[in-house]
Amino acid sequence: MPAETWLLTGATGQLGGWALHELCHDPARPRVFALARQPAERAGATVVACDLAQLDTLRPLVTDLRPTHALHLGAVTSVADAFADPARAQRVNADATAELAAAVRACGARFVYASTDMVFDGDHAPYAEGDEPRPLSVYGRTKLAGERALAGSPHALTVRIPLMYGLPRHPRRTTFAQQLDALHAATPLRLFHDEFRTPVWLRDAARALIGLARSDLAGVIHLAGPQRLSRLDLIARAATLLGLPTSGLTAVSRLSVGGDEPRPADLSLDGARLAQVMPALTPGPLRIDALR
Ligand SMILES: NC(=O)c1ccc[n+]([C@@H]2O[C@H](COP(=O)([O-])OP(=O)(O)OC[C@H]3O[C@@H](n4cnc5c(N)ncnc54)[C@H](OP(=O)(O)O)[C@@H]3O)[C@@H](O)[C@H]2O)c1
Repeated sequence: MPAETWLLTGATGQLGGWALHELCHDPARPRVFALARQPAERAGATVVACDLAQLDTLRPLVTDLRPTHALHLGAVTSVADAFADPARAQRVNADATAELAAAVRACGARFVYASTDMVFDGDHAPYAEGDEPRPLSVYGRTKLAGERALAGSPHALTVRIPLMYGLPRHPRRTTFAQQLDALHAATPLRLFHDEFRTPVWLRDAARALIGLARSDLAGVIHLAGPQRLSRLDLIARAATLLGLPTSGLTAVSRLSVGGDEPRPADLSLDGARLAQVMPALTPGPLRIDALR
């Protein structure tokens, strides 16, 4: 009987795919239950059908699986989708988080929730854990509501994650993967030069989340990449690492595009708390491993 039993939501997503990969190759050989809407075969894990929007199914499911650790990565992650259906975003991002956390707590297990730098307004970067959130989007507000459902729980940790880059483990048309395809095909790309984040590689984020789930930290922690980069900087650096030309990249301003909601200008996170308490989990800079 493995000592650890992990419950993973969002296992079919870009971060969840990497978390599953890391857990399935972990020397502790944990038992892994991957909760997914459309169960697909996932080597090393038992896939369990679960729609996070079906709130009344979550507690019985968790009670049945009796996890020791839960990584809650599933969410409505598209800002546009959250804006289009705020009730669904609230249900999946906030209400399901509250339900899952309560059920996991009743099992005496650890709960780690992937939140976002988009809980901030973008006007006061770099943001530390104690800074006041002020989300500008439905997505950010519903993720913040998920955080607030965990407030004061000694078994729960919110990890605020910035923009992630890298290739997904399972086929998924992510923005970053499409941008790399465009670089390889020498297709022109228009990228914001004035919107800043502290990006992290998906694999670094997955490893950090697993390490943090095994810690006894509670509250909120920021997972920040070491570089403050615009989307243009990120893709230009990727091109350079891959030995590809940057001549097809055009700088555009975030102010030049319309949109239903304002775009935060600078969501850079301050990662000092993680660097102090668990330095081995601090994400590294952009490197070639993330690009192939
Ligand atoms: N991507 C980023 O740069 C970023 C930045 C900061 C924070 N985060 C956070 O990190 C986490 C993972 O993000 P990601 O980029 O990996 O997202 P993603 O690729 O869009 O994956 C989202 C996952 O959530 C699942 N999901 C959505 N609605 C569901 C529902 N009703 N029931 C069950 N599963 C559902 C999706 O399942 P399907 O495959 O069935 O759609 C998918 O597995 C999220 O909590 C997100 O808020 C992401």
